[in-house]
Amino acid sequence: MARALTSRRRQSLLLGAIIYGGLASAPAESPAQAEPCLAVIGTGDMGGGIGQRLGQRGRRVVFGSRNPSDPRVQRLVQATGSGASAATPAEAAARCPHLLFAVPWEAAESAIRSLGDLTGKILLDVTNPLMVREGRVEALPASGSGSEQLRAWAPGVRVVKVFNTINVAVILDPALAGGPVSIPLSSDDPEAIAVAEEIVKQFGHDPVLVGGLATARYTEGMAMLYVNQLISRRTPFEFRLVPRSRPTQR
Ligand SMILES: NC(=O)c1ccc[n+]([C@@H]2O[C@H](COP(=O)([O-])OP(=O)(O)OC[C@H]3O[C@@H](n4cnc5c(N)ncnc54)[C@H](OP(=O)(O)O)[C@@H]3O)[C@@H](O)[C@H]2O)c1
Repeated sequence: MARALTSRRRQSLLLGAIIYGGLASAPAESPAQAEPCLAVIGTGDMGGGIGQRLGQRGRRVVFGSRNPSDPRVQRLVQATGSGASAATPAEAAARCPHLLFAVPWEAAESAIRSLGDLTGKILLDVTNPLMVREGRVEALPASGSGSEQLRAWAPGVRVVKVFNTINVAVILDPALAGGPVSIPLSSDDPEAIAVAEEIVKQFGHDPVLVGGLATARYTEGMAMLYVNQLISRRTPFEFRLVPRSRPTQR
């Protein structure tokens, strides 16, 4: 009986939707579903948090994990929805044209080299080539940036630096910062920039293009400042870049 009523109610809802044009005019898939699948390499705080949120709003995510069948990773897949799955990092990278690269910097070279040929793929790089040693933030490359280093390790990949100057909790909840935070983007590739801009906006933040991939060195420096603020227990801050319309006098 209950099943019959449920089914009749579903039919009437369907009919109503058709009459009022709700279904007839609806696009076949939501904008997020129309986006290509995203391989998320690394299932920690950044990869897990960003991947899960994008999946929950309809994007198909393939988590690339060293242990794809691990119960923790499988729970992440379940919570993500939208047809999410987990595979080895190389399988995930092979399946999707867009990648989010979210591993510790110490593992970055071996992780990106393990992904196979990334020619033509867009890689959103959230890493920072830094570590905290004896209470100090250390290690920018002597020259260049971590992002350029990634591109050198995976020739042909189209890298955009994004989300490296903000904590994952604030990425997921802009209200923690009292509103949108500026997210610097560095890339030489217009399509990669467009992909990153769209994702930043989906999280309710403000993308700010700061230049080519070489400028990732500067935002990696911003990340050092950000982390230093946290570990030295000073009042944490977020970066909000304010455009200025007039040039300075000198
Ligand atoms: N946390 C933040 O708020 C934040 C903010 C901005 C930037 N970042 C940057 O984003 C990157 C990821 O940070 P995270 O906080 O997400 O790190 P995390 O929580 O430690 O997660 C990193 C993930 O990378 C994968 N991985 C691959 N090789 C690894 C290895 N040799 N050792 C450890 N993990 C390995 C692991 O996933 P599998 O076990 O599934 O392979 C792991 O869960 C870092 O470069 C960090 O500097 C972090």
